Amino acid sequence: MPLPYSEKVMEHFRNPRNVGRIEDPDGKSVEGSPACGDMVAVYLKVDGDTQRIVDIKFESYGCASNIATGSIITELAKGKTLEEAKAISWQQASEALGGLPPIKTHCSVLAVDGLRAAIQNYEERHGLVRERVPTTVEEVRRRLKHVMNPVVGLDLVRTKLVQAIEVTDGTVRIAVDLPTDHQFANTIRADIVEKIEPLWDVERVLVTFSD
Ligand code: FES
Repeated sequence: MPLPYSEKVMEHFRNPRNVGRIEDPDGKSVEGSPACGDMVAVYLKVDGDTQRIVDIKFESYGCASNIATGSIITELAKGKTLEEAKAISWQQASEALGGLPPIKTHCSVLAVDGLRAAIQNYEERHGLVRERVPTTVEEVRRRLKHVMNPVVGLDLVRTKLVQAIEVTDGTVRIAVDLPTDHQFANTIRADIVEKIEPLWDVERVLVTFSD
């Protein structure tokens, strides 16, 4: 059966560029797709003087389209400034790959979202966020939608594990409906802290479990 992929997609899928992780990255992200539950992680090294991406790697737990898009966007982003890299769109990635089947659009959106989230993570960690709006419960909830519940491969909010969120004076408290000794409790705590701590006005993130 012929695969519905262009030659370019197959080439990038078979020989993906920039696969792997960067130890001690300047910016990183893990994004999950609400459409299929797959995930992609993006790691960046940035030259602080020129704001150029000097190295970029990705890991994909997605399909061939996602792997090929991760490969092409890392190629497109390498050497670009953060502002230029932010402008890379999934349409551009898809065109560079000779097109993707429409049913696979979300896979390239996921890879591009991963790149943008890694840039945002860099900007937050380096005090480069221009619009400093105070953190709200809604913003925390939005970010928790990007923390996976590894038991089912969907996010914490959709799997109703977030019992309560409180934001007061730089402290964010999040109650998770899992016992402290659950096998994934520590991973989930670390993922939550990683997503919430970079917010400019957050000083402490306290994650509590249900016992
Ligand atoms: Fe999940 Fe493509 S089907 S990333």
